[in-house]
Amino acid sequence: MRNSLLNGAHWNSIEGENIMREIVIEVKDVMKQFPTGAFLHKKIQVLDEITFELEEGENLAIVGPNGSGKTTLLKILATIYLPDKGSVKIYDHDIFKDISKVRDMISFVSPALSFQKKLTLRETLKFFSGIQDSNIEDIYPFLEEIGLDQLMDERLEGFSEGQKAMTRLAIGMLKHPKILLLDEVTATLDVRRKEEVIDYIDKLDAKLDLTLGLIDHDPMVVDRLCHKILLLRRGGTILRFANVSDLFHEIPYRYDVKVYPRKPLKTKVLDSFGFPYEKLGDFVRFFTQSKKEVDEIHDKLFEKLEAEEIIEFSTSGLSLEDMYFFFLAKET
Ligand SMILES: Nc1ncnc2c1ncn2[C@@H]1O[C@H](COP(=O)(O)OP(=O)(O)OP(=O)(O)O)[C@@H](O)[C@H]1O
Ligand SMILES: [Mg+2]
Repeated sequence: MRNSLLNGAHWNSIEGENIMREIVIEVKDVMKQFPTGAFLHKKIQVLDEITFELEEGENLAIVGPNGSGKTTLLKILATIYLPDKGSVKIYDHDIFKDISKVRDMISFVSPALSFQKKLTLRETLKFFSGIQDSNIEDIYPFLEEIGLDQLMDERLEGFSEGQKAMTRLAIGMLKHPKILLLDEVTATLDVRRKEEVIDYIDKLDAKLDLTLGLIDHDPMVVDRLCHKILLLRRGGTILRFANVSDLFHEIPYRYDVKVYPRKPLKTKVLDSFGFPYEKLGDFVRFFTQSKKEVDEIHDKLFEKLEAEEIIEFSTSGLSLEDMYFFFLAKET
């Protein structure tokens, strides 16, 4: 159960239903600029007119091209930066007025957190638990789950990038946050570790009723952990803010199939497959809804052509970049 931290908390009522949901994060018309130029005499606009709300139980994914302000937005939620305009409330606490209350509830896990190389993992965790007045024992289950417990007396200088990422996450957990903000934490993890970390975050979320705000490039991570998605344009404005499931449904395909033929395929042949496609230089890209349809294209292709006529046949699931460009193209 969520313990209501807050007096006068702010709620959303859902029309037609008798459900009141607490608003966990409320961002209104946020703008952020940074000084730039040789004499810092100019300003670049990094975020503009950012407005959205997250209700209890919802997790957010932030997606957008490099430099679109994703990290800046997470840092504003973590009170590392303050907005130049607009307001941010966390459980109805204004970040300008109640900054220390907000800070108590939030952990921001940054890939930029660096370590004292000569310290062991145990010493490092002790150092951070000292700052945060918390106990290493509390995060032992997490350390065990991801195998870091075996490395407690190893120095951080010997850690891989993936192990360092998990150490940063462990440090983020030390604080027992209500809101966990994750900036590309899974980027350096291999597939197995990523699964383990996501499983653990998912369990933790179910148990502690966390709110997650994360930046990630992997649709699997977003699909597993997040309910809402915020697509940022270059220039830091909102392209879309929606339910993850709604956005995925708006896109008319799930998998694309790339075929590199030795000789260009005739339009008549391509049409006969019965799937939407586009020709891009030397290859053709088909769009399908399911893995079964991918198999269908594969079988038809090898019925029509000899194996040596095809240089490559490959398939991949919809990526977040594909999704981003789909909505960007729809807009123009
Ligand atoms: N402290 C700062 N001072 C000056 N400019 C900054 C600062 N922090 C970020 N910026 C600028 O703001 C813009 C947005 O940066 P931000 O790191 O938020 O983008 P991002 O979407 O997280 O990008 P990436 O995908 O590369 O991580 C960039 O142009 C960046 O150079
Ligand atoms: Mg970033």
